[in-house]
Amino acid sequence: MKHSSLNLAAASALALSLAVGLLGCSGPTPEGKGGVTGTAQPGYFAQGSGGAVVSDTVQSTQAGIDVLASGGSAADAAVAVASVLGVTNPLVGGLGGGGYLVYYDAETGEVSTIDGRETARAADTATLFIDPATGEPLSTQQANIGGLAVGVPGQLALWQRAIDRWGKQDLASALKPAIDVAEQGVPVNTALHNQIADPQKTFGIFGNTAETYLPGGRPLETGKILKNPDLAQTYRIIAAEGTDAFYRGEIGQSMIDAVANPPVADGKSASTGTMTMADLASYSALNAEPIRSSYRGLDDYGMGSSSSGGVTVGEALNILEQFPLKDENKAVATMRFLEASKLAFADRNAYVGDRASVEVPDEVLLSEGFAKSRACLIDPAKALPAPQPAGALTATDCSAAPVASGTETVEGQQTNHFVVSDAEGNVASYTNTINFYGGSGILVPGRGFLLNNELTDFDFAAAARGVESLNLPAPGKRPRSSMSPTIVLQDGKPYMVLGSPGGSTIITTVLQVLMNRIDLGMSLQDAVAAPRASQRNSATTLIEPAFEELPEAEQAKAAGYTFVVAPTPDQNPASVTPPTIGVVAALEFSRPGPDAAPMVIAVGEKERRGGTSAQMTNPGG
Ligand code: DON
Repeated sequence: MKHSSLNLAAASALALSLAVGLLGCSGPTPEGKGGVTGTAQPGYFAQGSGGAVVSDTVQSTQAGIDVLASGGSAADAAVAVASVLGVTNPLVGGLGGGGYLVYYDAETGEVSTIDGRETARAADTATLFIDPATGEPLSTQQANIGGLAVGVPGQLALWQRAIDRWGKQDLASALKPAIDVAEQGVPVNTALHNQIADPQKTFGIFGNTAETYLPGGRPLETGKILKNPDLAQTYRIIAAEGTDAFYRGEIGQSMIDAVANPPVADGKSASTGTMTMADLASYSALNAEPIRSSYRGLDDYGMGSSSSGGVTVGEALNILEQFPLKDENKAVATMRFLEASKLAFADRNAYVGDRASVEVPDEVLLSEGFAKSRACLIDPAKALPAPQPAGALTATDCSAAPVASGTETVEGQQTNHFVVSDAEGNVASYTNTINFYGGSGILVPGRGFLLNNELTDFDFAAAARGVESLNLPAPGKRPRSSMSPTIVLQDGKPYMVLGSPGGSTIITTVLQVLMNRIDLGMSLQDAVAAPRASQRNSATTLIEPAFEELPEAEQAKAAGYTFVVAPTPDQNPASVTPPTIGVVAALEFSRPGPDAAPMVIAVGEKERRGGTSAQMTNPGG
């Protein structure tokens, strides 16, 4: 299908004077689809031309806009946004973590990716998370806290690589806004307050982390100014000395010490790990081959493994493409979406690990024949039992013998995703994280950033989820991720850019927004705002409360679905913050002609994560 919204391009100047919810939308009015209005309000939505940024906080978005306005590329701006998020959103990203960047280079027309995922240290083997006293896997809580699960951070190496490949400015310039914000401080917003409230018990273990985020034993109050002079100084050192200060120098030594001897409060203890200068010095952000799949005439680009995001979104889209969703009733289309993601997760869990260490059958999983062999299992009137087995890689129809697979667990809101485009047409889609809120809980003394606990994304035992694991720890290996930064091209040019946090719900969130926009005729704003559901080959399906109010939820229940409401963003049953799945940042482009500069709409979240921030360099025109 060629999406008709892009054929509206000639009318795009006129479109600026139309209601915001109608721009680029060829379907019924937003109110008519999904019951969510697309009414724009300052903050989470912007439209215009030139450069665009959507990120979690006002300060990070502003930093990206400032870099774009000073002539920086989307890559320069992306580094500025990410480094400011290390100040404004320190519990879900920063120097102590890693991430994935998908980038469209307007000069070459190519989409490339950088894998800045954390790696296991040389000392980490398959038994990393096995308790030597019992021979049993540790609990997630035991594994998450302290030095045990700290992977070698990839974030800074990714920043440098992005600037080397596509930057017009240098790393020092890109870090300048973050230094300013860290020195001046930012008011604590609701999202940060909630995030601190979640790992409260964890933070209490570490003296300096508790002093910073739990003064007097209570989470930092909303509105309080949070400064981070230590992080400002860390960024300054990196700006002056380059990434060697981190991967071969004094900042690296601080991380090594903190992992070996976590700075615990009196009377507390935490796990330890062995990170060495050799681990840091050998870290490399990878120029990784993107995953490409085609969907209704559009080209969808995502991350290959170490992330499972690209291939799982791609396989699910291929399955959905077997059905004429736009002509089907919405309840049927919703069943197809839930069943397609159930089947794609069965295959992900059986076949995807770090492709540098294990063989990943991307080509088969993304083939038309395999998609058909999965699609033919779907009956919109009757849910497949879960967990489903994975498909046989030789399958071309429904009869091939299946392969054992397993389920996914409940996931939180941690991580952040942001998007950037510049006036020259370059586009960045970047998801990054320190894993769970506050990562390992270790705030590197004197350096102002938290260390990740990304290694708990490895399976803990050889037969995890009931199948032999491709995702066991090994020296230098990257744990399997679900991060799914995505760029969709039409006729070789960017059409949509999106991604989300949320662990393995990232994959279903990206899939749902794509289906909402491309198949169900929603505007991008409505596609993002619509209530979410996440089926990941489990007996129950995670939902936002509003999803249950939709007529299609009734039909899904009749077909055998059991819904469970997602956790609140602060994982607190008494929370006043509603449960949510994902926090999407997205862009959409329309062009008045093949060589004309695009009009852009930039969409964040109106409610989720307390509302996020979208801006354009030339708003409105
Ligand atoms: O790489 C991943 O998929 C996760 N470490 C991302 C973490 C996240 O979004 C929330 N975690 N549960």
